[in-house]
Amino acid sequence: QTGMFTYDPGFTSTASCESGLTYIDGEEGVLLHRGYPIGQLAENSNFMEVSYLLLNGELPSAAELENFTYTISRHTMVHEQLSTFYRGFRRDAHPMAIMCGVVGALSAFYHDSTDIADPVQRKIASHRLIAKMPTIAAMAYKYSVGQPFLYPDNKLSYTGNFLRMTFGVPAEEYEVIPAVEKAMDRIFILHADHEQNASTSTVRLAGSSGANPFACIAAGIACLWGPAHGGANEAALNMLKEIGTPDKIPHYIERAKDKNDPFRLMGFGHRVYKNYDPRATVMQSTVREVFDALKVNDPLFETALRLEEIALNDPYFVEKKLFPNVDFYSGIILNAIGFPTTMFTVLFALARTVGWVAQWNEMISDPGQKIGRPRQLYTGPAARDYVGIDKR
Ligand code: SDX
Repeated sequence: QTGMFTYDPGFTSTASCESGLTYIDGEEGVLLHRGYPIGQLAENSNFMEVSYLLLNGELPSAAELENFTYTISRHTMVHEQLSTFYRGFRRDAHPMAIMCGVVGALSAFYHDSTDIADPVQRKIASHRLIAKMPTIAAMAYKYSVGQPFLYPDNKLSYTGNFLRMTFGVPAEEYEVIPAVEKAMDRIFILHADHEQNASTSTVRLAGSSGANPFACIAAGIACLWGPAHGGANEAALNMLKEIGTPDKIPHYIERAKDKNDPFRLMGFGHRVYKNYDPRATVMQSTVREVFDALKVNDPLFETALRLEEIALNDPYFVEKKLFPNVDFYSGIILNAIGFPTTMFTVLFALARTVGWVAQWNEMISDPGQKIGRPRQLYTGPAARDYVGIDKR
């Protein structure tokens, strides 16, 4: 059943379900959203159009896209009281900690869209989450750097609005650089959805209990934060900084192969892809575009390219089918644009919100949907009688 969680002993660590949103062929390195290849969407589409596709199943007409974009823009502001919520955090709080708290708190501000039995409320909650994530993410950054929050400017695009709220200041005009806006928008597309990954599984499981959509997305954000999942983009850039120059790469390659060393190549490997992650291909080509637009260079990009080349020719990585994933190059781009590493996973969560919301809607809309209840294979002691403490 769509949205049903079935426990299949063949999948010892995941619950599986049916969905029409995203298809992945891990062996071939194929990723389709509602049938459209990620490379074609990244090249030809934009994040609002891909969001519409994920939510509605078809690419929009020009009128449908205009209406959807306008609707989203009407929800970009957050309740003014929410800005007070930020002031409860320390300035040095990790922005992902703030995202978990603030997004979970949204149900306290928008309780008129928490009744999941009402399709109208579900739609409003979905639009609110997609629209407010850029504002909430930008506010988390502004709070961390001690700058004032900027209100959304709906004359800008979804992505341009986010860039201005993040990097603009009240004291001067902020000019969105088209090439940066396009690269940022493409990065959002690459992160929009990815089938039954850990955080989407979390959102679906939370949603299957009937929890309100804001709480479900907050649960997904918490799961995404882990370095084995969405936190890998921050970890990958930190790893490249630690490696530094290409001559140090062999030492780290050997560490990654050493089972006694917890070090892993961050941004490499994947639970499903046993081939090149098609998103990493697009991400790598986007690095140059951003460098050219900003007239910058980053020697870490050369280190990353050399690391990939060495790893892909190393028998260990070849045998274990370890390839760069979506997180390997993204940090280099985000760093060039001006984001601190602590914001990288926040950007992943911002973009993945449309996938989480689309997956949640698909599950909740299924009349046969039941609460998820994966089982465990018991490996503890057989039944036995209680022993009094005087006999232990
Ligand atoms: C994301 O699920 C999704 O779709 C997630 C995601 C999405 O869009 O939602 O794609 C986003 O989370 C991408 C992954 C980001 N994480 C990282 O880049 C962290 C580094 N990667 C590894 O931690 C690891 O590759 C995982 C967690 C991604 C997968 O780990 P698994 O399940 O152990 O991978 P595997 O079974 O394919 O591993 C095969 C072998 C194992 O060794 P053996 O037990 O066979 O001896 O390869 C080893 C692993 O130990 N291995 C690595 C490695 N990744 C796997 N060795 C060194 N460096 C690595 N990066």
